[in-house]
Parts: sequence; structure tokens; C-alpha cells
Amino acid sequence: MSNFMGEILISEEELQARINELGEQISKDFEGEEVVLICVLKGACMFLSDLMKRISTIVTIDFMAVSSYGNALESSGVVKISKDLDSSIEGKNVIIVEDILDTGLTLKYLYENLLTRNPKTLKIATLLEKPARKIADIEADYTGFEVEDRFIIGYGLDYEQKFRNLPYITCLD
Ligand code: IMP
Ligand code: MG
Repeated sequence: MSNFMGEILISEEELQARINELGEQISKDFEGEEVVLICVLKGACMFLSDLMKRISTIVTIDFMAVSSYGNALESSGVVKISKDLDSSIEGKNVIIVEDILDTGLTLKYLYENLLTRNPKTLKIATLLEKPARKIADIEADYTGFEVEDRFIIGYGLDYEQKFRNLPYITCLD
């Protein structure tokens, strides 16, 4: 495995420290309010589970699975919802929890889709952001780290469904 994996870009300790900060920020911003965290499957599952532990206000969670048509490494912006939310988000404070904002096309689609369901507030938390690749006009409200334009794996992110279990962020090259 180490033959084709790059160096550790973000260690387990760095991930946890930054996620603690994001959790504190969200706790402050939504003090006294309830928040629904929407985990975008599958990549955001580890981020969700660590982030939710660091939020001190009342939290509920829900899951959505989306797939973008196109090949494995590129996003097409045409998004199919393969699992929708279990509950209505009308009138709720909603935070979309995503693994990476790459071109931003997936998040843009998701954001606009969820907005039509009339949440009270709608925010985006992304663990990673690749500014060099951004196409869509979409901004995250909470960002963990900016990364270079490399193919990232680990901590939920996959290559052909593998490597999600790595507790740190690395890359394929
Ligand atoms: P988008 O280009 O922002 O629409 O990204 C769509 C999805 O592609 C993300 O939610 C990730 O699941 C996946 N993705 C984008 N860049 C990477 C990467 O570097 N490694 C692994 N998955 C990625
Ligand atoms: Mg994803």
C-alpha cells in the first residue's frame, strides 16, 4: 500500500485539533438553538462523527447519498440523490457536512436542493477545500483545511471505495 500512497498531508492530531475548533465555532454560532447535521455519504462519515462530538448545542443527524455522473476522478455537476433525508428540514438550522469541496458542483446542487425545502438557516461545513479546482459559485461557512490539487484519500475519502478507513489525510501520488 505504501508504494503508491503519498506522504501524510494532515495527521490524525491535526485533524482532531481543527475539528475541535470547528465544533466550538458551530456551538457558539448556534448557542441555544438546535442544529441538524446532514452527512453527505459516504465520504463525510468520519468528519461527521468527530464533529458532532464537539458541538455542545442540541444536535440531530440525517444522511444523504448523492452520486455525480461521470468518471471516478471528475465531477460532472449532474447529481443524483440515491438516498434522501429521513426527516423534513423545514424551519430548522441545517448544516451540510461534506468531505471535500473540489469543483463545488455537488455542493452547489445540494445546497440549492435543500434551500427549496425552507430551512431556517442553511450552512456548509467541509473538512477540505481545493481552491484551485473550484468552478461553482459556492462558499463553505466552516472549512477545516485547504489542500493542493492532488487526489486526496483517507479519513472518509476514497479511491475506488478504498482507503476511507485511514485515520489521516494522504494522497495517491
Ligand atoms: P465536487 O467536484 O466538489 O463536486 O466533488 C464531488 C465529490 O467528489 C466530493 O464530495 C468527493 O466525494 C469527491 N472528491 C473530490 N475530490 C476528491 C479527492 O481528491 N479525493 C477523493 N474524493 C474526491
Ligand atoms: Mg463526497
